[in-house]
Amino acid sequence: MPTMASPPASCLAQLLVLVICFAAAAADNEDSSLKNQTFREAPQFYNSPSCPAALRPSAAASCSPDALVHVAMTLDVVYLRGSMAAILSVLRHTACPQSVQFHFVASSAVDYLNATIASSFPYLSYRIYPFDGSRVAGFISTSIRAALDSPLNYARSYLDRLLPTDGDGCPRRVVYLDSDVILVDDILTLAATRLPETDTVLAAPEYCNANLTAYFTPSFWSNPVLSMTFSQGRHRQPCYFNTGVMVIDLDRWRAGDYTERIEEWMELQKRMRIYELGSLPPFLLVFAGRIAAVDHRWNQHGLGGDNYSGLCRELHPGPVSLLHWSGKGKPWARLDAGRPCPLDVLWAPYDLLQTPCAFEDS
Ligand SMILES: *[C@@H]1O[C@H](CO)[C@@H](O)[C@H](O)[C@H]1NC(C)=O
Ligand SMILES: *[C@@H]1O[C@H](CO)[C@@H](O)[C@H](O)[C@H]1NC(C)=O
Ligand SMILES: *[C@@H]1O[C@H](CO)[C@@H](O)[C@H](O)[C@H]1NC(C)=O
Ligand SMILES: *[C@@H]1O[C@H](CO)[C@@H](O)[C@H](O)[C@H]1NC(C)=O
Repeated sequence: MPTMASPPASCLAQLLVLVICFAAAAADNEDSSLKNQTFREAPQFYNSPSCPAALRPSAAASCSPDALVHVAMTLDVVYLRGSMAAILSVLRHTACPQSVQFHFVASSAVDYLNATIASSFPYLSYRIYPFDGSRVAGFISTSIRAALDSPLNYARSYLDRLLPTDGDGCPRRVVYLDSDVILVDDILTLAATRLPETDTVLAAPEYCNANLTAYFTPSFWSNPVLSMTFSQGRHRQPCYFNTGVMVIDLDRWRAGDYTERIEEWMELQKRMRIYELGSLPPFLLVFAGRIAAVDHRWNQHGLGGDNYSGLCRELHPGPVSLLHWSGKGKPWARLDAGRPCPLDVLWAPYDLLQTPCAFEDS
């Protein structure tokens, strides 16, 4: 079994040094200069004896039915530092790191992203699938947060079409992860979530006490047909879920053509504004109340907080398997700025960015 990374006391001193280094590095956040970011090579991780044979490392892997878990993520230059840390966290905490296959979706700088992943993770079995952003651009109406309007943010709705089917439907099931997550538990456990009913397409932690009112506009709620959405069909309790961590059954997704259902809501949104926030509301409209529940430990979300007021979030009560810095602030930006939130130090050990201050991994 790989050892769980617990922060020894000496680590805290190193972290302090790191924080100071980040501040000194004064990273320039321009998009093009981000392409000059260089990343360290991640350590190699090995399967435990109980795992199947390792997948062959490849930067152009075809879907392997031998993979124990297929992970889908988007890649872009701006969030690459987060993605690299997320990948490292998956590998570090699973019993079978050589049986995890990654499926990345990217819409620009594909060669740079490919080369960067290949050099930091030379033992990874992965492939990058190019995503044509103009495919969804026509559906996107401006949301209140510009970052959520990036076409790549919508790629999670197209995994059924982007990922291969290789004739035998491989991959049948994927775990979709956002770029601002860190796993501290074995992804095999998450991937093994049961989707009990034959029409259950996805699983995610859900929050049935959440009030959905604020996610949709008054014109949505005042329209009798639209507001019926959450009470139609089998007793549908409109539970909130976050789309940053999802287990998706691609066969069932394809069978029900859920991409088209999501696009229908996006088309309606263009004609009459029914929600404010990017790609999440159409997912809620199609799936809320119809998903398999995953333990809340698998998406401790909201840790990004709000970087304007300097608001830091705390963990939700209960155990933690996955930390998610959703929200405006990102841990790497706050670490660079020398103003980290307390939980941001949990992200730092997974950072692969090469900084001018050489930091040796112990
Ligand atoms: C990377 O940095 C070099 C030198 O600082 C510069 O000439 C080049 O334009 C930069 N490349 C990008 C993509 O920003
Ligand atoms: C990524 O790099 C590998 C190896 O150089 C290459 O075979 C593959 O086609 C590249 N992927 C993309 C999407 O360009
Ligand atoms: C949900 O929030 C709205 C305001 O956003 C409030 O008017 C409404 O009473 C709340 N509903 C419940 C069930 O708490
Ligand atoms: C805060 O957010 C703004 C806008 O998203 C961004 O430009 C800025 O770099 C962020 N600052 C920090 C310290 O994260």
